[in-house]
Amino acid sequence: MLFSIHTYGCQMNVRDSESVSAILQAAGHSQAASEAEADLIIVNSCSVRGKAEDKALGKLGLLCAAKRDRPGLIVGVMGCMAQRLGPEIFKRVPALDFAVGTRRCGAIPRMVRRALAGETGICEISDLLETPDVPDAHDGTACTAFVTILLGCERRCSYCIVPDVRGAEYSRPAAEIVAEITALARGGVREVTLLGQSVMRYGLKNPVSHDTDTPDRHGLTEPFARLLEAVANIPGIARVRFTSSHPSGCTDQLIQAMRSLPQVCRHLHLPCQSGSDRILKAMRRGYTRAGYLDATRRLREAMPDIAVTTDVIVGFPGETESDFQDTRSLMEAAGFDNAFIFKYSPRPGTPAAALPDDVPAAEKMRRNRVLLADQDLRGALINQRLVGTVQEVLAEGPSLRNASRWSGRSSGNKIVVFEPDPALEPGALVNVRVTRAAPQTLYGELVL
Ligand code: 5AD
Ligand code: SF4
Repeated sequence: MLFSIHTYGCQMNVRDSESVSAILQAAGHSQAASEAEADLIIVNSCSVRGKAEDKALGKLGLLCAAKRDRPGLIVGVMGCMAQRLGPEIFKRVPALDFAVGTRRCGAIPRMVRRALAGETGICEISDLLETPDVPDAHDGTACTAFVTILLGCERRCSYCIVPDVRGAEYSRPAAEIVAEITALARGGVREVTLLGQSVMRYGLKNPVSHDTDTPDRHGLTEPFARLLEAVANIPGIARVRFTSSHPSGCTDQLIQAMRSLPQVCRHLHLPCQSGSDRILKAMRRGYTRAGYLDATRRLREAMPDIAVTTDVIVGFPGETESDFQDTRSLMEAAGFDNAFIFKYSPRPGTPAAALPDDVPAAEKMRRNRVLLADQDLRGALINQRLVGTVQEVLAEGPSLRNASRWSGRSSGNKIVVFEPDPALEPGALVNVRVTRAAPQTLYGELVL
């Protein structure tokens, strides 16, 4: 069959879609050039906010309605919302053919066969304690790739649905990760992003047995720091990124690994969620404002050029104007390079959902706008300071807006747009002198 996968949500989902694409191809199916041509369409769904679920449900509704004009079309759903709703999803989208949980992607070809045989309402939801299979997958053309290292999350922040849909923490064996990345590097990948809900918890719950044949050159003993070192040393890998992180993981060893391994990018995505101690406590984040700022201070002391980005939630239950101002001031004090701001959305079954969602929608919107405007100014100022500097950029290819220019990312994860050299190949590391800066983008010229 010709298949197409429509992905919502985070990088973890992007990576899962790549896996499913590989599994389907191994089962003899092929990728459709467009969704219109596909006879199997899978929606990879997200549950993190109500809106994300509404989008996926809307999309599934449209696809199932299209079945009337496209006889034989099979529609399935995977990902976090499929896991959360389980068989309930067939009440919302009755014409849906199959739903598969977050740790059962390997079952998809079998479910497709059942659907082809005429079965409907096929549902395989994961037991969230089962050890998932994480098939290798990569589309073979890009010079960057995502690699999942840690599945699940057990932190249980009070607002978050992820532990309920992604299950218990499970760290993949180090040897398996290294083998996957070695194969990616042979296929031309230069930059990998190690993925997990809280990557610095890698190897803390289940042992991951680091290969003792590779001596640790930096005296690192913590599993995540050791994994960074092992991945950085894989021939062909020029850059290593990782996401997402938590202040408790910003140990001296992590900072030492980041500083001493030139392949590890100078960027950390470190969600703060709030700057108010009262709200942080209600969110069960496990750190205070001072603790968070201490982590950013230690990172910057060791690596003055590190870019720090964050996630913030506005309008958590009980968030007052004064709590909100604390978030504003924390963002200023931390000097974030970029920030993703979200309006609080109660998720069924989470501890916070038992609290009244008492910040009115219009006020959440206002707080969101204020933080975005602050961040735009801050981002513009920070980027302005980079004008005149030379940034190392992984050239990815023609820029989306203007194909005569190329774009790539700096070590600090900023998009850099530049005039290419005719001989330039995607995947090359080039030096670009920054000539102009916008809040989200740097512009510059190649330094030969
Ligand atoms: N409401 C709003 N935002 C949320 N996030 C997670 N759960 C919620 C929720 N219930 C945000 C957090 C997280 C990001 C991926 O999504 O900021 O870091
Ligand atoms: Fe990713 Fe969380 Fe959305 Fe699941 S719910 S897709 S883990 S952001």
